Amino acid sequence: MKSPKILVFAGSSRTGALSGKLAALAAKELAVADAEVTRISLADYPMPIYNGDLEKEKGIPENAVRLAHLIAAQQGVFIATPEYNNSLPPLLKNAIDWVSRNKSGPNGIPYRNKVYGIGSTSDGLIGGARALIDLRRVVLTAVGAILIPEKIEISRAQEAFDESGELVAEPPAKLLKALCRHLVDLSRRLAD
Ligand SMILES: Cc1cc2nc3c(=O)[nH]c(=O)nc-3n(C[C@H](O)[C@H](O)[C@H](O)COP(=O)(O)O)c2cc1C
Repeated sequence: MKSPKILVFAGSSRTGALSGKLAALAAKELAVADAEVTRISLADYPMPIYNGDLEKEKGIPENAVRLAHLIAAQQGVFIATPEYNNSLPPLLKNAIDWVSRNKSGPNGIPYRNKVYGIGSTSDGLIGGARALIDLRRVVLTAVGAILIPEKIEISRAQEAFDESGELVAEPPAKLLKALCRHLVDLSRRLAD
């Protein structure tokens, strides 16, 4: 059985980002669960804010094409998002929007035919749950992808990780492991 390819990224490229910590830990757990993990930062894929005129004049930005091809080559994707004003941060939504404009891959829209896992972090008490509701809706309905039922929301995330990047509390640590195992298991079916 082949190891599935799984891409991991966060919706924040800030130094010390809490969502980046969740992405880093998910990448580690996915590798433990036998995935071939690629972890990226959206900082390495800078894109202008989507604008239809820009697309008409200059086409899809090179970084959006690069990201689309990278996503298309995976069997699974894990996204960790922060919450901005009860929803997705613009960095993440803009990347999703630009990539969705690239339909040049073998399956058309690059998001299709892969399995997604999602998680959120917040320095507040709700753990970015409202951003996760929106990300879930985008992934399921707009992107048309397969989403595993487990999701993880890390509240007070500034205190949730220890110095080595592990989750301090046992319940979310167990949940993340279970989520990652499920993501690997389902992604593997696409790899075989
Ligand atoms: C523009 C903006 C809006 C925010 N809105 C929310 C919010 O609605 N809910 C929330 O829990 N935190 C909110 N926050 C706080 C972020 O959750 C917090 O800054 C978090 O650390 C950012 O994610 P990161 O650490 O992954 O960069 C907001 C922060 C910014 C900058």
